[in-house]
Amino acid sequence: MRILGIESSCDETAAAVVEDGERVLSSVVASQIAMHTKYGGVVPELASREHLRAIVPVVREALTASGTRLEELSAIAVTVGPGLVGALLVGLTYAKSLSFGSGIPLIAVNHIEGHIHAVILESRRDGHPVEYPALALVASGGHTHLFEVREGFRYRLLGKTRDDAAGEAFDKVGKLIGLGYPGGPVIDRLAPFGNPLAVKFTFAKMKGNTLDFSFSGLKTAVLRWVETHAMEEEIAGRRALLRESPHPTLEQWLSVTPQRTRDLIASFQHAVIHELLARAGSAAQEIGARALIVSGGVACNTGLRAAAAGSGAGYPVHFPSLGLSTDNAAMIAAAAFPRLARGEFSGLDVKAQPNLALA
Ligand code: KG4
Ligand code: ZN
Repeated sequence: MRILGIESSCDETAAAVVEDGERVLSSVVASQIAMHTKYGGVVPELASREHLRAIVPVVREALTASGTRLEELSAIAVTVGPGLVGALLVGLTYAKSLSFGSGIPLIAVNHIEGHIHAVILESRRDGHPVEYPALALVASGGHTHLFEVREGFRYRLLGKTRDDAAGEAFDKVGKLIGLGYPGGPVIDRLAPFGNPLAVKFTFAKMKGNTLDFSFSGLKTAVLRWVETHAMEEEIAGRRALLRESPHPTLEQWLSVTPQRTRDLIASFQHAVIHELLARAGSAAQEIGARALIVSGGVACNTGLRAAAAGSGAGYPVHFPSLGLSTDNAAMIAAAAFPRLARGEFSGLDVKAQPNLALA
């Protein structure tokens, strides 16, 4: 059974064909990052316009690359939320039209559930299926959530960020210190060259739900550090480098980043990783988790992967491959597979839901 997945919730237009919920026959992602970089973040209006331009060729390419004709599909899965409403509408409207024109059933998918299924898909394919209950940490530019995942894909929200998402913290700090947008990947590359214990960041104790996250204080602490360490000149130097070469090499980055700043970067990343894994660990213990799933763009982080692997948790830790960590449509098709098996389809009146929750 082949499912076409379509994803357009943020700044990636993506389509994929997945067979039997585990074989990725094609996965096409058209990223808009180069365009949004100029503005230091995703501009919703521009995102919608780019999705409009990309959606038809991206879906066509996913079908062609997988050797699938439209009529061979068992379902069309599409992200309905959460995300930017104008962006969601492009993928959703296109998916509805395809479904209406072809008679192939539609399955509406929650983007966050998609991130969790990126891991479930690969772990099943690789012969190490996730055991339940599992604790899922979804950390991206838009979300930082902890879920309990039970057999049959039932979810319970255990904690979430009260302000910035983890990826947002990487992006805001990256922008602040002249590393461009998105900040996560560059900080990841530079962090190994600094001392992660050089700058001590403290987190406020959470009142109420202790499994909630808060990253805005950390961002402010970095801002204070920058203000008190006369960094204007070197920040200007990094911004100039980015204007000259939009994709600096590691050597180029290092040449404009003194040791003191490398230490700041390493310490910031260390603080985020510690925060994510500490709360994930507590949540896992609370539910008696038999596995930890980490997904979303921040799951690409090398330091996070190393720390999770070395944490000595008594259960397996599953990360998606890099291509399935960030936004993609294979995860959307994978999340729809159990619903196809149960015959749970969506009507053509399903709406885009920018604040859709998973629980
Ligand atoms: O899942 P994603 O592609 O889109 C959202 O749903 O938000 O995640 C993008 C986020 C960005 O904030 C980006 O900075 C972050 O993931 N990210 C990383 C890394 N790669 C991407 N953060 C830390 N380390 C990385 N290697
Ligand atoms: Zn995402």
